[in-house]
Amino acid sequence: MMDTVLQENPLKEGLGGRRRPDPFTFVIFGAAGDLAHRKLFPALYNLMVDNWLGTDCRIIGVARRPYDDGEFRREVAQAIEEHSRRKPDPAILNRLMENTRYVTADFNDQDQYQSLREQITGPDFPKNYLFYLATPPAAYPVIAAHLGAVGLAHAESPEHWVRIIVEKPFGHDLESAVALNHQLHQVFDESQIYRIDHYLGKETVQNILVFRFANGIFEPLWTRQYIDNVQITVAESLGVAGRGSYYDHAGALRDMVQNHMLQLVSLIAMEPPVAFEADAVRDEKVKVLRSIRPFSTRDVADYTVRAQYEAGSIDGEMVPGYLDEPDIASDSRTESYVAMRLLIDNWRWAGVPFYLRTGKRLAKRATEIAIQFKTAPHRFFQQTETPELSPNLLTLKIQPDEGISLRFGAKVPGPEIRVRTVNMEFLYGTSFAGAPPEAYERLLLDAMIGDSTLFTRKDEVEAAWTLVSSILHGWQRARGPIPTYESGTWGPEEADTLIQQNGFHWRRP
Ligand code: BG6
Repeated sequence: MMDTVLQENPLKEGLGGRRRPDPFTFVIFGAAGDLAHRKLFPALYNLMVDNWLGTDCRIIGVARRPYDDGEFRREVAQAIEEHSRRKPDPAILNRLMENTRYVTADFNDQDQYQSLREQITGPDFPKNYLFYLATPPAAYPVIAAHLGAVGLAHAESPEHWVRIIVEKPFGHDLESAVALNHQLHQVFDESQIYRIDHYLGKETVQNILVFRFANGIFEPLWTRQYIDNVQITVAESLGVAGRGSYYDHAGALRDMVQNHMLQLVSLIAMEPPVAFEADAVRDEKVKVLRSIRPFSTRDVADYTVRAQYEAGSIDGEMVPGYLDEPDIASDSRTESYVAMRLLIDNWRWAGVPFYLRTGKRLAKRATEIAIQFKTAPHRFFQQTETPELSPNLLTLKIQPDEGISLRFGAKVPGPEIRVRTVNMEFLYGTSFAGAPPEAYERLLLDAMIGDSTLFTRKDEVEAAWTLVSSILHGWQRARGPIPTYESGTWGPEEADTLIQQNGFHWRRP
């Protein structure tokens, strides 16, 4: 077990060492929806518990549904009750509710933005504004344009600010992402736009940078000279979970790879930034995305696999196949699984394959990054190695059993030199007792204080879509059914073939 000095506990301290936001008015469009209920309000509640909301934070929920303030507050309180990581304290919950109001609005109706403006520029509301687009994506440009038209997109005076958080999906392909960037930029400056990717708010994802750049011993090894291959797995046991109508138009490539998985690749592969500040970090991440070799049609056939789940058993329970899920077209060819090999054509990574796989209804929920090192140049103990001796492997376990594990060979006690594989483990839960803050807590707070390091910049999102679009184009040309895999397994055989071409195997998380 790695020794950890428990002088301070960053998880327990939560988001320690940061300033609190200025007084601000937080306007959530789509406040009656699932995301607001499951993530945003519980995050606001927990930020309030930890005293992060500053002296004055007013919340306005905006949606089509005709609630009054009372009904809305009751529903929000119930959502917090159900989804907060902490059991709500009635006094704190009341304080949050006192600051929460509701406005019924049709997102297309200019007059309603005018009355929203009259309300939030009135004497009761702080003049810093944070807008959150938690609506269906078609409404993003509409809301942005209306905010601009009623003069809410820019601050009243230089000491005030206006920011806008945009949820995923950010576009459906490269063209739509470029168009959305263009529409947002007609109203907001890039510095005001916070494109959210909740993976960047996860503690263990942020720890990738700390692990690499706050320690002296790993970075010298972090190159093609020592690393043989990298495997990134984002496995889910859940199916489409009631989101069939969205998911069937998206699929695993758009839903998980374009954003979360390419973010993980960038953090693993980036060069050290010149400073730990927003643009410096994002400059390096963009360079990685631009260095990934785009897929030709031939590469798509050879180095990507997509598949759909069939019925099967998860945790002892039978689950339906993808095509039998609600709101899925009966002849759908949308992938619920994707695996691929990426190559990063730059000085550090040339020739090191990065294998990515993600899927729904896999054997278990597990997100991890496994970095496999090259074997020792000469194997002295070859005669007496046990058969299972494997190359050194560093595994960053993102969820659910957060930690880091290093696999190496050790001498089996006894008179002979026999070598066997053992693991050195660091477990977050053991070293930093207590549940870490939720990703949305961190990201909301960052947007409130104006730190965009963990948000995706325009060029980053477009670089990710450029790569993903090259795969989508290849897939569009392929005809016929797509492969399938049984729910509760680790995916289709085709994915095994993909990785075995280079003599590797998928890891069992
Ligand atoms: C979302 C996807 O962005 O991420 C979902 O739309 C997916 O399909 C989810 O289930 C996974 O997030 P997490 O935090 O549970 O790994």
